[in-house]
Amino acid sequence: MPIDEKLITRGVLDNTLAREVYPELRVAAEPKMGKVRTVYDLGDERMIMISSDNLSTHDVVHRRLVYGKGENLDAISGYYFGASRHIVSNHLIEVLAPNVWLVQKASPILVEMVFRKYLTGSGWKDYKRENGPEEGSEFCGVELRPGYRKNEMLDGIIFTPTGKGQVKDFDIPEFRGLDPETDDPKITIEIIRKNFRKFGLRKPEDLDYIMEKAFSLYSFIYEDLLRKGYLLVDTKWEFGYMPDGTIALIDECVTPDSSRFWAAGDYVFNPVKKEFNIIQEDKQHFRDYIESLGLQNPERKTELANHMMDDEVLRQGVVKYCNIREIISGTLPKITIDSKKAAVLAVLSDAGFLK
Ligand SMILES: Nc1ncnc2c1ncn2[C@@H]1O[C@H](COP(=O)(O)OP(=O)(O)OP(=O)(O)O)[C@@H](O)[C@H]1O
Ligand SMILES: [Mg+2]
Repeated sequence: MPIDEKLITRGVLDNTLAREVYPELRVAAEPKMGKVRTVYDLGDERMIMISSDNLSTHDVVHRRLVYGKGENLDAISGYYFGASRHIVSNHLIEVLAPNVWLVQKASPILVEMVFRKYLTGSGWKDYKRENGPEEGSEFCGVELRPGYRKNEMLDGIIFTPTGKGQVKDFDIPEFRGLDPETDDPKITIEIIRKNFRKFGLRKPEDLDYIMEKAFSLYSFIYEDLLRKGYLLVDTKWEFGYMPDGTIALIDECVTPDSSRFWAAGDYVFNPVKKEFNIIQEDKQHFRDYIESLGLQNPERKTELANHMMDDEVLRQGVVKYCNIREIISGTLPKITIDSKKAAVLAVLSDAGFLK
């Protein structure tokens, strides 16, 4: 049953788990903080991964947090990591608490492995700009035929990789002349192959292995989500080398942060707008709100970071993340005003990971 919005009171909205480094943890190296997760190296080829309730859009971490977001993402990732081990292995060892995982330490591959089955978002923008509807165009090395309409299903799943980080993080000839601060630069299979070491790959053929696994994984999860009433429009995966040298999926798996989900029943062509109608159950809710305020512009990053998001927009986002979690995993988070941080530290203490 969808979560009752009335349960998300002001007190609940404010009871979030912030992204921070806990000095209490016994670690072997400097913790690494991402936009949402912090990973702690335990020194024995394992890591603790804590998923906060922070929200990032347009490459900016927002001031307001989204109640239950970290644990909703983990519940979804945990569900798909568990269900897809027969296709590809992953880093999850044990769920210690809803936001706290024990994972295998990986040597990350610095490519955001983006896969798409529909033409929308940046893919559509690029296609339109390049006169794709009339002439076809190329996107991240993939040839797209002419004639696609906005949000239309592609002829097949496509791989449109980006570099993990900024242009300046990669010293490769293909990036010369680009703005060094550009985030997640678009790349192609060819660029990765030619510069495989710079992207953290040990051999170029490892990319073939990853792509083969990722295409199977996409099809598998697409079918699962479709049975649950949603279309997996696109998704982003990270892979890494495990301590034994094998390649595994790391970070997260098909969450509303890393993917687009559209309601399957509402996906129909609108002849007036000449595009497919979509109802989105993912981070797009927040992106659309930010874009309605014009805050997506890179020059307004500081303003975006300090923006006090409206309670109602936040509440709707909380509900969306809870609902998609329930649809996928069959579980809902506990709605509580008890301190999230205290709960995390208690679990870590009981498991013997504190100093
Ligand atoms: N098993 C693992 N071993 C080593 N590093 C990991 C592992 N799993 C995840 N990580 C790293 O932990 C960090 C998690 O960060 P997080 O997901 O918050 O944001 P991000 O990956 O920097 O940005 P985004 O996900 O928004 O693109 C990432 O740098 C990811 O590569
Ligand atoms: Mg990540």
